[in-house]
Amino acid sequence: MSITRSRIVSTGHYLPENVVTNYDLEKRVETSHDWIVQRTGIHQRHIAADGQTTSDMAIKAAKQALENSGLKPEDIGGVIVATATADRAFPSVAVAVQHALGTQFGPSFDVSAACSGFVYALSTADALIRSGQVKRFLVIGAEKFSSLLNWEDRRTCVLFGDGAGAVILEACEGTGTNADQGMLTSHLHANGQYQDMLYVDAQSGFINMDGQEVFKFAVNSMSKIVAETLESVNLSPSDIDWLIPHQANVRILEATARRLGMPMDKVIVSVNKHGNTSAASIPLALHTAVSENKLTRGDLILFEALGGGFTWASALMRY
Ligand code: ACO
Repeated sequence: MSITRSRIVSTGHYLPENVVTNYDLEKRVETSHDWIVQRTGIHQRHIAADGQTTSDMAIKAAKQALENSGLKPEDIGGVIVATATADRAFPSVAVAVQHALGTQFGPSFDVSAACSGFVYALSTADALIRSGQVKRFLVIGAEKFSSLLNWEDRRTCVLFGDGAGAVILEACEGTGTNADQGMLTSHLHANGQYQDMLYVDAQSGFINMDGQEVFKFAVNSMSKIVAETLESVNLSPSDIDWLIPHQANVRILEATARRLGMPMDKVIVSVNKHGNTSAASIPLALHTAVSENKLTRGDLILFEALGGGFTWASALMRY
């Protein structure tokens, strides 16, 4: 029986012009290029200009995704933006995108799930598409994490970057797990018991993180959610063509791949160039893979992420 699924039509991205290398950071805090590379795999990150907002970046990424799709703004039925760094408490970044692009007046809202936000947004858009409410969504991850950083705290300021990635998701018809294209399954989780492991301090406005605890939980929960996802559709790790994880730390990506028995050449890595861009990291990694012609239509791709909350999520789709 044929069912409605949602497939990725196109991707877009935006990275601020200002590239900050590890060597630049050596001049600001007591750190070294070698320490940052060994512990995280990060070589550089992009940092937004003064006055440049999350909406500015989201709009640029969305425009590129639209351009790459050949669609018109009026073909887009709704906008979902995953972000923890909206310009204002309200209205949402999504309505700023909707206004800038002149898309239809369908649902437009932000999703807050920290680094898992993009997968939460993708899953939400997929559900609304499958329910028949919206035919085509712009799903965006956009962050200005530099606004949450204490540039004197070496434990956090070396880890994060700014940017935005966007996809256009549209309804398509498919059958079974061998459908040519589209979302096969998605899984969302949260456990508020861990709120104090990774959070933005209300007083200072800066990120606080228990790095080692986050690291351990990330490796464990990522392996578990990948197994849960594959089991739900009777597939195994060897069926995955590309793992596109949240880009926090290359050591987390390596540990997850090792536990799954996946070679690193099946894992998309962009944390080296972007740093951790939170909800923007997966769509940025996806766009990088698409631009480098790594993905072929029909490839099985698995997105997975862990973020503050803790929240964690996965989505399995044929590209
Ligand atoms: N440069 C040099 N030394 C440093 C730096 C730095 N930038 N930062 C910390 N150190 C020092 C510490 O002070 C410590 O020194 P000490 O032994 O004298 O006390 C030493 O290096 C080791 O510190 P650890 O914190 O134990 O280092 P670790 O190997 O755990 O690496 C890191 C830290 C990179 C943060 C790691 O724990 C990590 O990646 N954690 C996961 C982060 C993550 O995945 N976040 C994802 C979610 S993000 C989100 O949701 C917004």
